[in-house]
Amino acid sequence: MINDSVLDTIGRTPVVRLNRIRVDNGSEILLKLESRNPAGSVKDRTALSMVLEAERDGRLKPGGTIIESSSGNTGKGLALIGAARGYRVILVTDPKAPASMVEYVSAFGAELEIVKEPDETGYQRPRLNRVHELLAATPGAFWPNQYDNPANPKIHAEQTAYEILDDVGQFDALVAAVGTGGHISGLAETLKKKLPDMVTVGVDAKGSRAFGFPYETWLMRGLGIAWKPENLQTELVDRVHLVADHEGIAASRLLARREGLLVGESAGAAVFGALHHAHDNPGSRIVAVAPDDGGNYLGESYDDEWLRAHGLGDAVAALATTELLVAAAKDPAWPSMTLEQVSRLVTSG
Ligand SMILES: Cc1ncc(COP(=O)(O)O)c(C=O)c1O
Repeated sequence: MINDSVLDTIGRTPVVRLNRIRVDNGSEILLKLESRNPAGSVKDRTALSMVLEAERDGRLKPGGTIIESSSGNTGKGLALIGAARGYRVILVTDPKAPASMVEYVSAFGAELEIVKEPDETGYQRPRLNRVHELLAATPGAFWPNQYDNPANPKIHAEQTAYEILDDVGQFDALVAAVGTGGHISGLAETLKKKLPDMVTVGVDAKGSRAFGFPYETWLMRGLGIAWKPENLQTELVDRVHLVADHEGIAASRLLARREGLLVGESAGAAVFGALHHAHDNPGSRIVAVAPDDGGNYLGESYDDEWLRAHGLGDAVAALATTELLVAAAKDPAWPSMTLEQVSRLVTSG
């Protein structure tokens, strides 16, 4: 098959059964490898969907400029798409942006704007403020605004969900990490219509405010957010599972070492959530999503020295075998709960 452009290679990602990281109760965990998109993540689909929509409705004209706040995968996807379609791309990020990301997007010719002053919740809001300044100063600039752009969940409802149905058919639960809420909301929209009994589990970082929990800091990249994103359709999420840094990171490292799947921290978190769900639901067939490639975390959470420097060495070491990880997922510190239970817990303080 000859693709007319690299953009035609976005999507049609494989699903792989986990053979060792599993609960031995008749359940199975199937991992959808969004890491296999050309810029390495689920965000390639989102970025392309937002750009094509903006081209169609005239917000983005030939030779125009795309400006977005991203220190990760959306930036990588936009940088690739900008190169392939001839747009200038400016990414607003902060000093914590991984060097690998900066080098990656620079290779595609994207420009970086580094915001240096955080506010009380970190860099996310100051970065958005800078995006607005740049938009005002750049005629014809387009802001994809992935947190509140219907084209983000739409591509997953119209494309990714059907790939899962084609490859997997019937299944019992979807487990997906939540950042902007784009992929879980889009997938759930279609899959709940096609498989009415299927349960959706949103995996969030311990400390994230996506579902209203009190804010704390967390380390994992990709999932978690300091506010509730507009794209997150909470009514489509049946259960929420807060995953701690060491749980998600330990799972991602074992996916590499025991399954040969080099995936990111949020994939580890999703698999940890899937293991927890499998313990509670013997015999169930679970689809989890691996949002990005583990290459993003080399020299970081795949590196023992880095883990020690970030105070996670012992906690990750305590989950360093499949047996320990699977056992920890049976009764984690924050078991999954319904949204009703979440709101009761949050209101009772
Ligand atoms: C690595 C990673 N995991 C998870 C997510 C969350 O995906 P979504 O924004 O669709 O909720 C993202 C989004 O940026 C991501 O980059």
